[in-house]
Amino acid sequence: MRRIAILTAGGDTPALNATIHGAVVRANALKIEVFGIIKGFSGVLNPKVPHVLLNPLFSTIPELNPCIGGTILGASRTYLKDNDETALHEVADRLNSLGVDGLICIGGDGTINGMQPLSQYFPTALAPKTIDNDLGLNYPEESTEWLRETDPASGKPLYRKLPGRPDLNLEEIINYATPGYATAVYVAAASGVQRIRTTAESHRRIAIIEVMGRDSGYIALGSAYGQPDIILIPEVPVNIERLEHRVRELYEMQKHVVMVVGEGVVDESGQSLGDISKSTDPSGNIKFSGAAETIKDRLVKAMGNEYFTGKRRNESADSAIFTRKLGHTQRGGRPILFDRYYASQLGGKAVDLLVEGTNNCIATLQWTESRGFFLDSIPANKLRDQWGVIHPRLMHKSLYDEHRFQPSKLGIEFLLPIFTNAIGPEDMEEVRIQQFNPGNLLRRYQSVNVDIQKRIRYL
Ligand code: F6P
Repeated sequence: MRRIAILTAGGDTPALNATIHGAVVRANALKIEVFGIIKGFSGVLNPKVPHVLLNPLFSTIPELNPCIGGTILGASRTYLKDNDETALHEVADRLNSLGVDGLICIGGDGTINGMQPLSQYFPTALAPKTIDNDLGLNYPEESTEWLRETDPASGKPLYRKLPGRPDLNLEEIINYATPGYATAVYVAAASGVQRIRTTAESHRRIAIIEVMGRDSGYIALGSAYGQPDIILIPEVPVNIERLEHRVRELYEMQKHVVMVVGEGVVDESGQSLGDISKSTDPSGNIKFSGAAETIKDRLVKAMGNEYFTGKRRNESADSAIFTRKLGHTQRGGRPILFDRYYASQLGGKAVDLLVEGTNNCIATLQWTESRGFFLDSIPANKLRDQWGVIHPRLMHKSLYDEHRFQPSKLGIEFLLPIFTNAIGPEDMEEVRIQQFNPGNLLRRYQSVNVDIQKRIRYL
């Protein structure tokens, strides 16, 4: 193998540059050239295929810094469709003309679906990423536990997860943690919950913090490190009466409440509390918006003004309860040590998979009590259901205690290996040096896009 291409598809994460860096370092050692494709699959759909040589003379370009979030290659949510034979042929021809012998896609479930049809033409490998931690399986047979129905309104297929196994063995999890997840949790717990806590406490307010993750509750679960009083996850429907009861109990005791809500939470009829807009992104995913607002509205109605005004606790239910959506802060900025380290390893592993001659494979991060974290791989097809669809991994319910609205004992056991040493001393030192660096006041932000633009070549 003399030359490979690499691209970053889907939503970005803080660990993408670290993955690219890991792949390039490995390729340097094996004397393989790496072409970085600009803007994910949209780069290969462009007849001119904008690309950058990431390792001239087998040394990594200086713009590729594994400690900086985002991706120097740019990302997009444009995907290849498996039934578009013409586009697939064109893409394969273009990559052949570039002289590449294999393609690494850094992405999540949407990316594998785009990568799969290309694997008919030349070897492909996926290096995983997603802050949602929803790429993988809780146990190997989980991919078959889906039910397909037809949506009466649109006639399109609808997939429903069957209950599956009630128990979970952490050592069976396929892809224990995806790069980007740890940093997103760090932001949710530290900047989200802990910073909001003291202001809610001072003003006797109820804070509802919405975190990302789509239908998976992993980020919400991890936010437990910030000690929220209540965590609501998408996998367990919200019962408003029970929630109101717990909120009142906590408010009576401590005069404020901090709650974390996963953006994909549903009510007891299975109706999403968040997808009010009903709009979708280019890969067909619903764009979640407003779960925290909906829960606030329901609590305002259920609790009423009198509860807050009666004892002069606050002016109204509406002003006592406030929401904060953490949004894209969870996806940006410097990756913490756990993400940097394992993202780089997974990037290197993806190169090895191509070199070993495997095709349509995913590099995975596994964990066992005796070995700790280690790298492995799985054929992408193992993630497909009986209709060929790859579903986002939902958080296994056994990780959550729905009576306490907190992680269960197993949930805590799941989190510990990832987070106990997830932050390195250099992460903290970086904050100390960079945050109030006087130079920040004198210099404009220097975007890597400007530097990379100078390196872009075309077919
Ligand atoms: O899948 C990653 C993710 O960050 C989700 O957690 C979130 O719902 C979505 O992407 C947001 O997408 P966009 O950046 O397109 O608004």
